[in-house]
Amino acid sequence: MQYLETQTMFGSFVRGLHHTTSHLMLIGMVMHLLMVVVSAAYRRPKEVTYWSGLILASLVFGLAVTGNPLPWDQKGYQAYQIETSIVGTMPVFGPTMKTLLIGGSEFGSLTLTRLYTLHVVVLPVLATLLLAIHFSLVRREKLMSNCATKRGVDLPIVALPQASSGADSLPYWPFQTSRNLLVFFILMLVATGVTLFGPRLFSNPAGTAAELELPPNEITLQAPADPDLPYLARPEWYVRPLYELRHMVPSDREVLVTGALPLVIVILLSLVPFYDKVVGQMVGRGLASILVLGLIGGSAWLLWYGWKNDHADPAFAKAKSQEQALASRALWLARENGVPPDGPVALLQNDPRVRGPLVFAEHCAGCHTWDGHDGTGKTKRELVDGVDRPVAGTAPDLAGFGGQDWLSAFLKDPTGPKFFGQTDQIKGGERIKNGEMRKWLEENVKPNGPLEDRHVRAVAALVAKESGRGDASGFSEEELKLGQEVFSGDVMNAQGEPLEFAQCLQCHSLKSGDPDGAGSGGLSPAPELDGYGSIAWLQDFVRNPGERKFYGKKNVMPAFDTERLSDRDLDLLLRWMRGEWARPEVQKNAP
Ligand code: HEC
Ligand code: HEC
Repeated sequence: MQYLETQTMFGSFVRGLHHTTSHLMLIGMVMHLLMVVVSAAYRRPKEVTYWSGLILASLVFGLAVTGNPLPWDQKGYQAYQIETSIVGTMPVFGPTMKTLLIGGSEFGSLTLTRLYTLHVVVLPVLATLLLAIHFSLVRREKLMSNCATKRGVDLPIVALPQASSGADSLPYWPFQTSRNLLVFFILMLVATGVTLFGPRLFSNPAGTAAELELPPNEITLQAPADPDLPYLARPEWYVRPLYELRHMVPSDREVLVTGALPLVIVILLSLVPFYDKVVGQMVGRGLASILVLGLIGGSAWLLWYGWKNDHADPAFAKAKSQEQALASRALWLARENGVPPDGPVALLQNDPRVRGPLVFAEHCAGCHTWDGHDGTGKTKRELVDGVDRPVAGTAPDLAGFGGQDWLSAFLKDPTGPKFFGQTDQIKGGERIKNGEMRKWLEENVKPNGPLEDRHVRAVAALVAKESGRGDASGFSEEELKLGQEVFSGDVMNAQGEPLEFAQCLQCHSLKSGDPDGAGSGGLSPAPELDGYGSIAWLQDFVRNPGERKFYGKKNVMPAFDTERLSDRDLDLLLRWMRGEWARPEVQKNAP
């Protein structure tokens, strides 16, 4: 599907047309049923036609349900999970039917093969057979009724609907055929329009662009199915009423909704041709019409009710725009690099921009924050004295870690809430909070010490350069030189007198911070700053933060070995933290 959508000429359009017309088909089917009932076209001798129509309708429904998950995108996959779970709660055959529909007890490639076979072989063959029967019945009845009137024999039980007695005088071909063709073309025009412009109307370009820094994109295909990615599952609209009802009853009675109700509806609809016999033609037709109108009205109300509830929830809008961002990200990656041999799921699973935040949320967000949230945009909140506020991390906020801004903010306020301010909440962490950096700030930076803002920013630039981050380049020679002077304690004031302050070099080693290039050597009592914030430094750090060259005995962060955090996930995490992921041309210069 990703290939069809991004690499094949007109692939997106053809797929979209299939999608649109499948929905139109269902709508058309409901309208057809309504017409049949209102015009009493189920009456003798058309009962068999009516019943064959009902079976056809359920086949079409089956085609929709089995076709929707075939793109194997998040939407279809998650909807099918809900739909099969509804089937599973039906009495007697439910669990067996569910196993049959899933192709086992769990979702997997068997599910897909099973669905595919049902959708392209079993159901179409059955539907074609039934269609042939349905049409031949329709034709025979037409002819029969025509014969009957022409001979002047009025069969009292055959109350012919207006249309067919009127058609008496006009042959089907070419009159009705041309009408059919006209309507067909109008519908195709509508379907084409919806396919081309619908997604643009329904997508949320603002959300997409903001979330993943991608240009607005027309989305029809959601991200490849992946249970690891967040997705708010909802069934398709034609199952939605049942889903809403199911959530309205207590779970021990849900079988009333998922089992009994559909059964009652099917029975009531099947018995429609008999209503006349029991209560007379007028009342029978009235009852049948009320039944179908009631079903349509009730379903419409339930749809509206579900839609309203979803849209009243701000979390829903946020989740949807994130899903859309993932969808457009997957399409963009497929368009740029093609679909990987491992399958489309690898598109996002190997993407630092998508996988990185998830790894962060899982492993790091227990202590660290990312711009105040957990990497994926969720913020933990707490009530303090009746005020609802975000929970501060117990370890530094890592957004921008290793860049000049992050470093100078750290140096100006190492015990601020974004840095070591809450570290004392971890056992032993108070030694970091009240460590040398705090003292250094208190004694060496204005107002108590001689160092000014520009000194701090310069030394931050010097250290930031170590990271090799995209946004830590292009510092001026002058700034870097001043940084080196601060690092090695060699700064003069305007009068040419040396400033008195504690140089970084006495505690940290950094070759580029030492005019001799020696970098003071291995026994420094503070984290080593050579390569600070680079992939290699970060890898070493996360694998073993208690190493001597990092926090040594002071360390309170857990070490992440390969068992806990795979090399692949660590790599994706670090590349995301450093802002290294493929992005569209216009954005290439952004960090
Ligand atoms: C149990 C809490 C905890 C978890 C979980 C944790 N850290 Fe830390 N992290 C800390 C603390 C506390 C420090 C301060 C230094 C120390 O104790 O070694 C720190 C320091 C760091 C630093 C150095 C930054 C600085 O300001 O000194 C980096 C980088 C870092 N952590 C990355 C990570 C990553 C990446 C993860 C997830 C894989 C992670 N941490 C998980 C608590 C944690
Ligand atoms: C007196 C020794 C000392 C001096 C001087 C000092 N530091 Fe530190 N630095 C530490 C210690 C110890 C830590 C670990 C946190 C703590 O205990 O305060 C640290 C932590 C840091 C960190 C965070 C390391 C990490 O893992 O994220 C950075 C960055 C840093 N220092 C940069 C500097 C710079 C730049 C200077 C000079 C302007 C400097 N330090 C001066 C001792 C020192």
